[in-house]
Amino acid sequence: MDEAAGILETVEEGLLPTPGGEVAIQIRLMAIAAAARFHGAELERTDLRVPAGDLASPAALTEWLRGGGLWAKAVRLPWKQLIGMELSSPVVLLLNDGSAVLMVANDKKRDLVFIRHSRLTPSDPHVAVGRDDLAKVWSGEAVLMRAKRTAAAVDAPFSLGWVAELVWMERHAMRDVLLASLVLSILTILPALMVMTVIDQVVTHQSLSTLVLMSILICVALLSETLLGYARRQLILVVGARVDAKLNLHVFQRLLRLPLDYFERHQAGYIWSMTGLQISKIREFLTGKLLTTMLDLVTLIVLLPILFVLQPTLSWMVLIAAALIAGIIVAFMKPMSRRVKRFIDAETAKSSVMVETLHGIRTVKSLALEPQQRERWDARVAEATQAKIAAGRFSNLPQMLITPIEGFMQRGVLLVGAYITLVDPGTVAVGGLVAFMMLSARVAQPLASLAKLMEDIGEVRTATALAASVLNQRPETADPAAGLRPRFHGAIAFNKVSYSYPGASNPALERLSFGVGPGTVLGIVGRSGSGKSTITRLLQGITRDYQGHLSIDGIDLRDINLAHLRRNLGVVLQENFLFRGTISENILAGRPGLTLSDAVHAARLAGAAEFIERLPNGYETIIEEGSPNLSGGQRQRLAIARALVHDPRILILDEATSALDPESEALVNANLAKMAAGRTMVIVSHRLSSLTDCDAILVMDQGRVLDLGPHRELIGRCPVYQQLWHQQNRHMLAAAQ
Ligand SMILES: Nc1ncnc2c1ncn2[C@@H]1O[C@H](COP(=O)(O)OP(=O)(O)OP(=O)(O)O)[C@@H](O)[C@H]1O
Ligand SMILES: [Mg+2]
Repeated sequence: MDEAAGILETVEEGLLPTPGGEVAIQIRLMAIAAAARFHGAELERTDLRVPAGDLASPAALTEWLRGGGLWAKAVRLPWKQLIGMELSSPVVLLLNDGSAVLMVANDKKRDLVFIRHSRLTPSDPHVAVGRDDLAKVWSGEAVLMRAKRTAAAVDAPFSLGWVAELVWMERHAMRDVLLASLVLSILTILPALMVMTVIDQVVTHQSLSTLVLMSILICVALLSETLLGYARRQLILVVGARVDAKLNLHVFQRLLRLPLDYFERHQAGYIWSMTGLQISKIREFLTGKLLTTMLDLVTLIVLLPILFVLQPTLSWMVLIAAALIAGIIVAFMKPMSRRVKRFIDAETAKSSVMVETLHGIRTVKSLALEPQQRERWDARVAEATQAKIAAGRFSNLPQMLITPIEGFMQRGVLLVGAYITLVDPGTVAVGGLVAFMMLSARVAQPLASLAKLMEDIGEVRTATALAASVLNQRPETADPAAGLRPRFHGAIAFNKVSYSYPGASNPALERLSFGVGPGTVLGIVGRSGSGKSTITRLLQGITRDYQGHLSIDGIDLRDINLAHLRRNLGVVLQENFLFRGTISENILAGRPGLTLSDAVHAARLAGAAEFIERLPNGYETIIEEGSPNLSGGQRQRLAIARALVHDPRILILDEATSALDPESEALVNANLAKMAAGRTMVIVSHRLSSLTDCDAILVMDQGRVLDLGPHRELIGRCPVYQQLWHQQNRHMLAAAQ
């Protein structure tokens, strides 16, 4: 017990110059990190978002843990619960002064808990503490955590059912919309009935009191119609916007989860037309046609009985005519949708030419390919136009058939009605006839739009299937939170790794075996296509379906959490994408917890600081889209700074300096040794002279390892390396002779 008090005293007095000060926070964070390590999660300080002036609050801590892939919760526990807990892993107890300790065991019988200071190594003894002693320092709050169960986070596949569920979630708002529409449709029937009453009662029987009553009723109906119409439009707007937002969020999230090689195999234009375009179609249908047709149908339900009450014979005529219209629409649906599909395909082909041209405009311009591109565009436009005309022409046909039927519904009914009055006076009054005409005009439209709806449902089904073909691809990882999060040191080992690109006949890597320790600077050389980039792709986890065993620090790469893996890597390619924004934003790349001083430090390492500081706005200089205001060398150095800013354990440079001018290249190479400090570097380069200082150089040929060793050894024993070296240094050798 004395020992316990001792520890707590150290926490209380020795380590804490000011209660709640910096040291206390450090201890608290260390305790959390130690407990997380128990579950295989390595938390990064840079991921902790502590609001300014906040003492690493329980909320911030749990957020931090969740970011690390754990389930976490901050709770307030009474002593009784603390002592009765089933402990399978340490619980972090938050102390009053802002620090924390780990509770590693409890003993209900002896009324004791065993705690450990987070700084102590696991072999250090635990300290037993009783209720009263703990109460002096403990705030009563604890942080619980455990590893997440993995399978739970897998999303349901994208389908029409899934979309329907999305709409169903808005059912309360939809119900209100339906209710408003029902009342509205009753109200819209009122004017017709009033016209009838005015003609039959007021005009025929000259009743002033009825007229007054009518006027009041009309005013009330008008007012409620206005208000209800307003409410309905509002509701539709809100429901539509919400469904739209949810669809958008979801689709983007799914797209981001697709593996990189999917994007390499498919053009951006294709992916966009398969997802973005289709989704907007689905949304338009859900919030536009579907809703309005439903509402129209409501009107129909109210309307039909009234018509039948007014005049059954005429009602039958109207109904049959409307059914005829619907029949015509249904009959034309199939051939129509074929033509519409052809039109859509032509449009997609057209837009992909546009996207491709804009994307490769540099090449198009510099090779003067404008005429060719224009030709392709012209052909596509012609195709699309033809398809559009064909579709339009075809849709003109049913329209032509429908027009006379519609005309009959409106005017023919009047004639028949008049005839009925003639042969059988008394069945319909004049007012009734007028009212009937006013109402019957509203029957055809809902029926026609119902028929049209059937066609639209077919189209939406196609759209959903198209979007699903992209969105339901196997995501990069089934569960983004799954996997180990070890602290990296940077040892890389390939053991009989083979890999073939999908559809390729020859393997890109064949039984590749080699290993390097942490902190190695590894150069990779080999002829074009020998598999150098493929090695770096495997390391990044871009392709995980390789055979063999690939490990970092002895941990199988497949077991490592993908996001964690990539966060611990820095990658610079030959061409790097810079985002629109300031230079410092580009270097920090939105990583929480990093500041401008980190950006400056990384820029110095990358040899970028010197040119950035010469820019008029320095680190605040805005980079435009495509970064036209920077030279290739400057862009590249920025990319290197961005890869270095989070201090990755492993840095991969794949031909990163190949496109640089000799001066920029020399600048980067001069900094390589500084960059390499404390991390493993993998440098792929065609220029052997930039690799001579590497600790080891891997010589690749046709997907196999030929040799591994430092320059001075390879030059003596590896024929392929000798050949490459002599090719590149012929001029020097010639000069030396
Ligand atoms: N996305 C891909 N799809 C299909 N095959 C590919 C793909 N990328 C590379 N390959 C093939 O895999 C082999 C190795 O390619 P890799 O890009 O690793 O070569 P490399 O050594 O980096 O070449 P370079 O020096 O030209 O960059 C090559 O034969 C190439 O044709
Ligand atoms: Mg390559």
